[in-house]
Amino acid sequence: MSDAVAVWAVVVAAGSGERLGAEHPKAFVRFGDDPLIAASVAALDDHPAIDGIVLVVPQGWEERATFMADDIGAGKASIAVAGGATRSDSVAAGVAEVPTDAAIILVHDAARPLVPADLIDRIIGGFADGADGVIPVLPIDDTVKRVDAAGRVIETLDRSELRAVQTPQAFLADVLRRAVAAADRSTGTDCASLVERAGGLVVTVAGDPRAIKITTRADLARAEELRAC
Ligand code: C5P
Repeated sequence: MSDAVAVWAVVVAAGSGERLGAEHPKAFVRFGDDPLIAASVAALDDHPAIDGIVLVVPQGWEERATFMADDIGAGKASIAVAGGATRSDSVAAGVAEVPTDAAIILVHDAARPLVPADLIDRIIGGFADGADGVIPVLPIDDTVKRVDAAGRVIETLDRSELRAVQTPQAFLADVLRRAVAAADRSTGTDCASLVERAGGLVVTVAGDPRAIKITTRADLARAEELRAC
């Protein structure tokens, strides 16, 4: 991809994060001195390839999100909108705010505070061979089984073919817009699955073990440790 293309990021942060047991939505729990969302917004804002950032937050948190961006000096994050009931609804709300001249849209979960710059480089640089989307992945070390509702094992999957998927994920903007418009938005735990379902080609690049997802208090503590390394 040439440096001249416009690249925007959508940070989805509208989840409630019930498993964290906090009184605030997950993206606004403390992570160091700032709300959790600030860490990934700062990383995206610092990256020279990224031109603008849309924040998608719970209804009523839009103003706090723009104050947060001001506070940390994230000048590219000037737009904050309310998300929807599902992650895909929130992505749709964010993508709708991205200017039409953007060629690439990155979608990132605010629940992953650590976004190393070289991870962003790999994702934006990964659009080879007709790819519509580029996603960061890690190998899976555990054995993975498919089970039924009663917990009985149906099969053991071949883990050499399996990957754990992270964010940011990058897409050609027009492909993502079409995939989001066509999707049944009650499904889809990531954007790549929407693009795959629409027939798009998604390729993988190496993820980063530091880009963990925060679900529990223990994850928050682990991310603090990783940030300090
Ligand atoms: O719930 P989960 O942790 O899988 O959510 C992944 C990301 O999607 C989080 O950053 C969360 O804030 C966001 N999300 C959203 N809107 C929803 C549900 C989740 O923006 N309705």
